[in-house]
Amino acid sequence: MTTAAVPRHVAIIMDGNGRWAQERGLPRLEGHRAGAKTVRDITTYCRELGVRYLTLYAFSSENWGRPETEVSGLMSLLQDYLKDERTTLLKNQIELCTIGATDKLPLVVRALLAAVKEATRGLDGMRLTLALSYGSRDEIVRAVRAIATDVKRGALAVDDIGPEHLEAHLDSAGTPDPDLLIRTSGEMRISNFMLWQIAYTELYVTPIAWPDFTRARLDEALADYQRRQRRFGLTGAQVAPAGNARGRP
Ligand code: FPP
Repeated sequence: MTTAAVPRHVAIIMDGNGRWAQERGLPRLEGHRAGAKTVRDITTYCRELGVRYLTLYAFSSENWGRPETEVSGLMSLLQDYLKDERTTLLKNQIELCTIGATDKLPLVVRALLAAVKEATRGLDGMRLTLALSYGSRDEIVRAVRAIATDVKRGALAVDDIGPEHLEAHLDSAGTPDPDLLIRTSGEMRISNFMLWQIAYTELYVTPIAWPDFTRARLDEALADYQRRQRRFGLTGAQVAPAGNARGRP
């Protein structure tokens, strides 16, 4: 994989932890524990490959409805992750960010998140964004409310509202849209993830469960991405510069 071919922003729906565990006769939480190991490895690998932005769907707004033991187990894994990974993030110049209604997370998780975000702020090796208590519709509704507030106080005219205003109020403001969205474990759906941001994102679904998603599997996803022609609504001829039949940007 040449550096030029690496997508700038990779987003991942990390699915299949529960099924991975159940297939092995293990409690679901063991699947999440194995999934947390994959998070560490894939994050480091993306950094090595030169990915600039990595966004991971770690906990959705709907996941709060799971059994209490699973929710608290996930929060506890998140705490361990934030305590253990701080050094690795710093060493690899990785800035930690979040998207989602993080004010709903337990206080101890919020405190750890704030500390790691603060410690890694401005590091420019890669930006790792964790989607936590995240729902895209909720994010869009919050953005619309913020725009409506601007209109109400006279700072913005209705006719002047454009996509840039919505983008500026999304949690992901400042991070470019994903180039590649990977979903593990085979389901063909988006599950309320970055609905606005993935308008022209390339989608890749693999049957592999997240705990089994290795560096080699990421290589496969990136190789598949590399073969795509991204047209952004234009024709193939328009986007393919001379000598680049695939029209990669
Ligand atoms: C989806 O699998 C995965 C989740 C809901 C949680 C993802 C969490 C981790 C990867 C570990 C913790 C995260 C960090 C950042 C340390 P699922 O439970 O829906 O699987 P299933 O569809 O097979 O039931």
